[in-house]
Amino acid sequence: MADAIIAEGLSKTFNGSVKAVDGVSFTVKEGEIFGFLGPNGAGKTTTLSMLTAVLGPTGGRATVDGLDVVRHPHELKQRIGLVFQEATADQDLTGRENLELAAALFGVPLRDTPKRVGDLLERLQLGDSSERLVRTYSGGMRRRLELAVGIVHSPRVLFLDEPTLGLDPQGRAGFWKIIEQLREDSGMTVFLTTHYLDEADGMCDRIAIIDHGKIVAEGTPSQLKDRLGGDVVTVRPIGTADSLEASLKALPGVTNVVQQEGVFRVKCPNGDVLIPKIVGAATSLGISIAGITLQRPSLDEVFLEFTGREYREDEGPSATDRAVFMTRLQSARRGIR
Ligand SMILES: Nc1ncnc2c1ncn2[C@@H]1O[C@H](COP(=O)(O)OP(=O)(O)OP(=O)(O)O)[C@@H](O)[C@H]1O
Ligand SMILES: [Mg+2]
Repeated sequence: MADAIIAEGLSKTFNGSVKAVDGVSFTVKEGEIFGFLGPNGAGKTTTLSMLTAVLGPTGGRATVDGLDVVRHPHELKQRIGLVFQEATADQDLTGRENLELAAALFGVPLRDTPKRVGDLLERLQLGDSSERLVRTYSGGMRRRLELAVGIVHSPRVLFLDEPTLGLDPQGRAGFWKIIEQLREDSGMTVFLTTHYLDEADGMCDRIAIIDHGKIVAEGTPSQLKDRLGGDVVTVRPIGTADSLEASLKALPGVTNVVQQEGVFRVKCPNGDVLIPKIVGAATSLGISIAGITLQRPSLDEVFLEFTGREYREDEGPSATDRAVFMTRLQSARRGIR
């Protein structure tokens, strides 16, 4: 598989001093869903902005779909889709009109537009409300329309900056189902940032955790969890089974065994592979087992381990929003003077 995104030492320093992104390197393969996670102000939006040629890097380089982001910004913008958190759709147009406008802006051939727009509206469950003004849309409908606008020109790579923030669980699930279908049908690559760890866990093929502008961990969700020392398998034997402890400790991959009130807690990187071996060890000792449970560490624990911070979904206004606000405030002040 070819690489859809390559970043090498990508950096951004604002105002000569704020190192928002500090030499990040990673690759995203074609057709992958890649998640960028990190606390407020970590540098997620700044990275995404550089990859989409919205912001110029101050160091390093990046290519998206084979195009250098600095040398070919215009061509790049035609090939990618971009969905930011803030709404871009025109409230005083209908959903269909917004999409037709976006199609024209992105150079979709006029003869293809009606079918493309019609298909997208159906697919994003906006068919029934396509003739309504966007100002009457619910939050979930607006998000789906933003997504439709982002993909109307069938981009090769789709960038999503916290696309489901503020949606209820049902709205989030519906949104991701659509993304997954699109990826399946068109092989589109997806780069996303999200504040919801469970979402990243379920959706992303691979994840990078960024903190203070640097990537602190990268891998598939299960690789990241394995790096924490892995799963906990709880074994509940019938009756006393002290002799089992030594056998459990001797199994390949087991890093720790604790016995508490007749129940064994076994730590290992791949609990699912270990379970049959545990059953085998017990059987050969003539011990019957009442039950076995497998517990995998969650991404919350991974996040805590690598950033030293507990993950909180209610972290307040995002660093991105604050920076945009300050820039607007400064230019407004300049206007007053
Ligand atoms: N235009 C700007 N001018 C100055 N500083 C900025 C600008 N944009 C971002 N920053 C700063 O760069 C750092 C990284 O910001 P960025 O928006 O990339 O974070 P983020 O990971 O997207 O955070 P959040 O989760 O809060 O959106 C922050 O310290 C932020 O204040
Ligand atoms: Mg951000």
